[in-house]
Amino acid sequence: MTNKNLIDLEVMSTEQIDKIIKKTKKIMQSPADYRHACDGKILATLFYEPSTRTQMSFQTAMLKLGGRTIGFDNPMNSSVSKGESLKDTIAVISGYADIIAIRHPIEGTAMAASLYSEVPLINCGDGGHLHPTQTLTDIVTLSCEKGRLDNLKIGICGDLLNGRTVHSLIKTLSKYQNNSFVLISTKELCVPLYIIDILEKNGCKYEFSNSLAEAICDLDVLYMTRIQRERFKSAKEYEEQKNVFVLDREKLDKAKEDMIILHPLPRVNEITVDIDDDSRALYFKQAQYGMYGRMALILLLLQDEDFLIPSRSTVISEHRCSNPKCITQQESYLPNMSYEKLGMTMCDFCDKRIN
Ligand code: NCD
Repeated sequence: MTNKNLIDLEVMSTEQIDKIIKKTKKIMQSPADYRHACDGKILATLFYEPSTRTQMSFQTAMLKLGGRTIGFDNPMNSSVSKGESLKDTIAVISGYADIIAIRHPIEGTAMAASLYSEVPLINCGDGGHLHPTQTLTDIVTLSCEKGRLDNLKIGICGDLLNGRTVHSLIKTLSKYQNNSFVLISTKELCVPLYIIDILEKNGCKYEFSNSLAEAICDLDVLYMTRIQRERFKSAKEYEEQKNVFVLDREKLDKAKEDMIILHPLPRVNEITVDIDDDSRALYFKQAQYGMYGRMALILLLLQDEDFLIPSRSTVISEHRCSNPKCITQQESYLPNMSYEKLGMTMCDFCDKRIN
């Protein structure tokens, strides 16, 4: 089965991902050629959670393609504040817009929304789960700056438990040949088990580290992330984690000359500001690549009939997902959709195991 919704890059083949990257590069070479590519089209950005880059880069992408945008960035100013369900909001908005970009604090929301949308829908972050268009941003940057997506040693540092950009990035880069990962975090903020399962399944080398200073020496890419304060149960737990890993000049001096530093942003204090002028610090350029990547994605979803995104084969399961952070816990009308992986039954919304 195929569809036009981008919920998770994992279902795409590397050929399909490469097609988006190629399109992005073409747009970057001559953006003027695309000024009217989406004339008359409307993008709705439904942001139930704060955003600077993702929302504005989607809006800018659509404006640069000649289209227009509608939406909200504070659900309290929409009918959500009156108790409207996700299903009803999406059913209505998909009658107004040609394409929807959605961000929500609860895991699995984009998948849930896609069930009720008549138009292509893009996941712009669902709780601590996934963020596929940030990964698109990251891999466009890697392709342009390192010239490859394979044979890379990638260090990922910070909040690997709650960082949705980390989960999407590992899922995607583990599809390419001979990438290896150094997972740098405290034991409390280690990547979720289902991500480790994917690394194993794809036969990728990975190691854990609790020292950025040691791990940095032979990396090709260092992906820094902020500690996700909003996803902690208490302020105390956040305080204990917040300044454990900081990239500063002393540590960067140990890195290879051609290592690149990426960060999905926003930065809090995990990279000291003096690093910004180092030629290896690419995080601001990365945000700009993201806008071009999103232009390519909008174009492919709206205009390329052959660009169809494969769907997982799902079944209606007897049991409801018990992950308290899953959208199925909030929106009672959702079906119990699941899929089988490595002999286990997984929730189709949040990817957690259903017992
Ligand atoms: C990230 C996100 O929202 O997950 N930001 C972004 O989209 N560039 C990272 C973060 O908030 O830490």
